[in-house]
Amino acid sequence: MFYAASIPEDEAQHFKFHKHFISAVKYVGWKKERILGEYPDGKIIMVLPDDPKYALKKVEEIREMVDNDLGFQQAELKCPSRTKTLLFISSDRKIVGCLIAEHIQQGFRVIEDKAIQQSSNDAIMHERQRAWCCSKNPEPAICGISRVWVFSMMRRKAIATRMSDCLRSNFVYGAYLSKDEVAFSDPTPDGKLFATRYCGTPRFLVYNFVS
Ligand code: COA
Repeated sequence: MFYAASIPEDEAQHFKFHKHFISAVKYVGWKKERILGEYPDGKIIMVLPDDPKYALKKVEEIREMVDNDLGFQQAELKCPSRTKTLLFISSDRKIVGCLIAEHIQQGFRVIEDKAIQQSSNDAIMHERQRAWCCSKNPEPAICGISRVWVFSMMRRKAIATRMSDCLRSNFVYGAYLSKDEVAFSDPTPDGKLFATRYCGTPRFLVYNFVS
């Protein structure tokens, strides 16, 4: 959050924001955790819609914070009763990553822009500023990533990559989804850079966009 330390109203707002953030990311630990992956720097757990109220309340709190951070109105979940939420819990018991996934039937392929193929800073700058376009032809897809978020100070540590890998092996019982069966909801510039690398192509699938 940007604020001017010399302005009392700004300071008060910042304090409130900070308190809310700290309380949202605090993870006390639950008796029954669905652990999908354990790593030297933390673990990934999954929360399902039928889980106890305290788990769902925490997910709701995190989702609100993620939506505020993304800074624009996110599309409603298509079927909340089938949503899967993955949380990355750091070794110091903070929720530093969140991925919300839903069942979808189709996605649309992003139309490639040649500039992103160079990995220079200029190409990344260009990618950040450009709007993306996608094909009008639907392609079958199974899993939609509605939101993916990592705490700003923990980015570029493969947290989103690990959550996406865990998602692919746990979204459909007994199946390991290919990257081509996953689509990203209206990706932000960060999301697009991540998805391009994760899927190994700038022509990854998207859904939920405003046409
Ligand atoms: N700029 C350039 N490349 C990026 C990038 C960025 N901001 N974020 C990810 N990548 C690419 C890199 O190639 C990276 O590999 P590298 O670090 O070895 O170069 C690769 O994707 C894997 O990134 P990873 O570390 O797994 O991603 P992350 O944990 O930092 O999380 C986001 C990525 C998008 C979730 C995170 O930046 C974020 O929370 N952003 C704000 C919320 C947001 O916009 N979410 C997307 C909604 S669609």
